[in-house]
Amino acid sequence: MKNENIYILGIESSCDDTSAAILCNDKILSNVVANQKIHAAYGGVVPELASRAHQQNIVPVVHQAIEKAGISKKQLSAIAFTRGPGLMGSLLVGTSFAKSLAFGLNIPLIDVNHMQAHILAHFISEENHKKPPFPFLAMTISGGHTQIVKVSNHFEMEVLGETIDDAVGEAYDKSGKVLGLGYPAGPEIDKLAQLGNPKAFRFTKPKVDGLNFSFSGLKTAILYFVQRETKTNPNFVKDNLNDICASIQYTIIGILMDKLKLAAKQTGIKHIAIGGGVSANTAIRKALEDAEHKIGWTTYIPKFEYTTDNAAMIAIVGYLKYLEKDFSDFDVMATARLKI
Ligand code: KG4
Ligand code: ZN
Repeated sequence: MKNENIYILGIESSCDDTSAAILCNDKILSNVVANQKIHAAYGGVVPELASRAHQQNIVPVVHQAIEKAGISKKQLSAIAFTRGPGLMGSLLVGTSFAKSLAFGLNIPLIDVNHMQAHILAHFISEENHKKPPFPFLAMTISGGHTQIVKVSNHFEMEVLGETIDDAVGEAYDKSGKVLGLGYPAGPEIDKLAQLGNPKAFRFTKPKVDGLNFSFSGLKTAILYFVQRETKTNPNFVKDNLNDICASIQYTIIGILMDKLKLAAKQTGIKHIAIGGGVSANTAIRKALEDAEHKIGWTTYIPKFEYTTDNAAMIAIVGYLKYLEKDFSDFDVMATARLKI
């Protein structure tokens, strides 16, 4: 081994955030994220604009991550990058950059599955963060993903259930659009929901067998509900915004918790970890806290900056794979639909 300490550069470019992070063993030295504001005007991520923004961002973001970490690029032990799943054009930017830099520095290249990375973010060493013991259940909830995974060890994962249509974050964002809120709407719905009555309006939960999820019906139900009510009261949304948000949130979190409880019951596992942007949600946090007291779960929520898309989670997988000498060939390809 070249250094006593292992320094990993992680690169994430699967969706609309360009991110680079430096890890020294399992500790973060830097984690730089450039958000792409451009998509807000379109109410969702525009793939072509995302890849162009990644191209503009990648060099300065990597440079900043190395500088913030206070190391020189010659000290790097390996480069880890997101191979997939994600938007092809966006993935290609990170993949090509990682390959050329690793080749230029003559160090190993490590490909990372973005979904595994959301889960393994729990293994970043942080003060006051306990790492989940194996086996545990991980629920990844974001604008792009909704998945429950049984994690038997760092690299042995089994998807128990996932969404068959929209992701949970999309359910928030699309409901927000119907209500005239900005994008992404999740944080705002969460804020307004805390001022409203969660039982003011009832939305039926989708009937999906097993541990899979479906959110597209809910979005349509909310649209029809708003259209119907505004016919009789044109100010319906404005007059009832907090209650509508609280009722939507109550329904969505109910769907997530029902499936999580079923997964815990079926597997007998009581260590439950969550990740992804929606894990910032106050209601899911409260529901998990209640489950600790009422059903004896132990729950794990990573620091916020490691729950949304970021390169620190890519770098920790790079570190764990480095220890196993699990390196990639230089002809590895970005893959939009990569399974766990
Ligand atoms: O992980 P993330 O930053 O990006 C990906 O989608 O990969 O997640 C963003 C999603 C958006 O859909 C946003 O509306 C949602 O997470 N979100 C929330 C909250 N904060 C972010 N949804 C509900 N409550 C929140 N507090
Ligand atoms: Zn993600």
